[in-house]
This record gives sequence, structure tokens and C-alpha cells, in this order.
Amino acid sequence: MSTHIAAQPGAIAEAVLLPGDPLRARFIAEKFLQNPVCYNEVRGMYGYTGSWKGKRVSVQGTGMGQPSLSIYVNELFRFYDVKRAIRVGTTGAVQESTRLRDIIIAMSASTDSAINTHRFGGRHFAPTASFALVQAAWEAARARGIEPLVGPVASSDIFYDDAESWKLWAEYGILGIEMEAAELYTLAARFGREALAILTVSDHIAQGTATTAEERQTTFTAMMEIALDAAVGEAK
Ligand code: HPA
Repeated sequence: MSTHIAAQPGAIAEAVLLPGDPLRARFIAEKFLQNPVCYNEVRGMYGYTGSWKGKRVSVQGTGMGQPSLSIYVNELFRFYDVKRAIRVGTTGAVQESTRLRDIIIAMSASTDSAINTHRFGGRHFAPTASFALVQAAWEAARARGIEPLVGPVASSDIFYDDAESWKLWAEYGILGIEMEAAELYTLAARFGREALAILTVSDHIAQGTATTAEERQTTFTAMMEIALDAAVGEAK
């Protein structure tokens, strides 16, 4: 048991998928995992453990934004010995060439958050994904005939951003804006674990377009299978 996760020791797998939405965690467990068992309901932030292709895997909601994700991922790394953590989420695209429903494998995550400013005392840490997981996700995508985008994203603390800072990120090659990956990658570095964020483009910030619920569902299924394969080392 940790402060926000009521799991018994050993109840969480070494590999964990991390959707922001706890109801999505429940949906993933029920739709994709065999024999899913719920290990956490504290604050409605559901966590489940089951298996995928015969290998144990968990799925844990994190909430939105880096402070919320930080609580859950800290506890997974500190108290439950989680080795591989893969965020599965959505992102807003900022490059003209990116299309709705594209899948982005986030190699690095810049941020406007003050979390790392405090943590590193003014130095600038570069939150980076695990190469092994980037490669595994890329191979799992290609095995499904999907050509993912692989590159940098930015984790913003501000969803409703009046300053439109996405324009500056776009000039520096950022592919998408989301709200959690930088803290996930930083914590993985801190605890010597592997982390990745796989994101589907749910809206195009530069073009002012968005996917329909039905479109999101189809892409979501592909992304989940890619993430599960990468998490349990079944990329090929
Ligand atoms: N901003 C931040 N996070 C997001 C967005 C966005 O436009 N779309 C999906 N996640």
C-alpha cells in the first residue's frame, strides 16, 4: 500500500501502461487484458493487473498533468518496483505535415513546467524516452502496417494557453503538445527505469481540427496494442 495506490506488494506488474483517464484504464483492462484484477480504486484512479500474450501487465490511471502523474509514477517506481512505464495518451499536433490520428512515439519531452526548474535548481534536464521502448514501439507499429512519427513532444502545464506558445515549440520541431511525458521521463531517469509515451493526435492545434469520437476509438485500439506489445517485449 502506498498513499494513493492501495495495492498489495506484488499486485502490480513490472510493465505498466499509463492512460491519463482512469476510466480508460478500466476500459483497457476489460477489453485487452486476460483475467484483469482491479488493485486500486483510491480517488477513482483505477489500476488493474492482467495479462497480454501470456505476460503480466498492469494499467494505471494517472490523472491529467505532470503533478498528478508524478504522484502515481513515483509510487509505482518507489514502492511497487515497476520497471517499464508506457504512457498512452493524446496530443495536439502543431506541425502542418502531421495528420489527425497519427501515432507519435515521443523520443523527448520539453516542458514549460516549473517542476524540473525546482528539481534541478535552474539547470535544464532533457527528459528522454528509453531507446529500447522507442524501438519496441516502432517495431510493433510497423508490424501492424502503421508508420508512426518518432520525435520530440512538449509537455505543457496549460491546456487553455492564451499565449499560444505552441507556435514557438513548433518552430523548434516539436511534433505535439501533451501534458505528462516530461515528468514520466524524468522520474524514469531518477529511478533507473524505462519509460515511453505513445500518443495519438486527437486534435490539430495549428489547423483547428479534431477527431471524432469514433475515429479516436479506432486509433486508440492500434495504440493500445502497440503499447502492450512494447511493454511485454512482444514487438515482433
Ligand atoms: N494541449 C495539451 N494536451 C493535449 C492537447 C492539447 O491541445 N490535445 C491532447 N492533449
